[in-house]
Amino acid sequence: MIIAIDGPAASGKGTLGKRLAHHYGYRHLDTGVIYRAVAYGLMQAGQDLRDEAAAVAVALELDPEKFGNPALKSHEIGHAASVVSAIPRVREVLLNFQRQFAADPPGAVLDGRDIGTVICPNADVKIFVVADPKVRARRRTLEAQSRGEAADEAAILADILARDERDQNRPIAPLKPAPDAHLLDNSQLDIEGGVRAAIDIIEAVR
Ligand code: C5P
Repeated sequence: MIIAIDGPAASGKGTLGKRLAHHYGYRHLDTGVIYRAVAYGLMQAGQDLRDEAAAVAVALELDPEKFGNPALKSHEIGHAASVVSAIPRVREVLLNFQRQFAADPPGAVLDGRDIGTVICPNADVKIFVVADPKVRARRRTLEAQSRGEAADEAAILADILARDERDQNRPIAPLKPAPDAHLLDNSQLDIEGGVRAAIDIIEAVR
């Protein structure tokens, strides 16, 4: 069983993916972290985020053991990831890792931007999570503050909108719902409510 979750920045798909994986006893991959790790690697090496050869080299050397690095969570790295992720060869290099992760038993939940459209077009269930941009900015601001970081909500909102725009309009693997995806709007839902709504969708198609 493969559950594909896609959606824009800060829509809550990561938390949802984690909770669903726990509920069903499946493995979970937050695919955003992979692009974040590439961006982080380039920045650490002082390289340009648009340097294709350098980005591909970093992508080829990625160590999944390091995906838990808290530095990857920052807002700046999210922004940098959306620049790196628009490079077609970077996406190509990262494709097999994601597909392999999805295929391994007993089942997997993957969340990202192109899981239902490119990575796992045959996923058993596809959910496209959306939420009002202001709600998303609020949640990200609170999250950053809870990590002890200073957070400017207006700047976060502007960044979320810029990132959505870039992710939706890139020529390769743009952010968009697969034709067979179920839409889940969690603007008015708390985490529990979102998880329940997703489980209802999954149980209906299983
Ligand atoms: O979801 P997250 O904010 O961690 O993703 C960071 C960036 O990585 C996104 O803005 C997007 O550009 C890119 N990404 C992607 N495809 C995915 C997951 C993330 O292009 N499957």
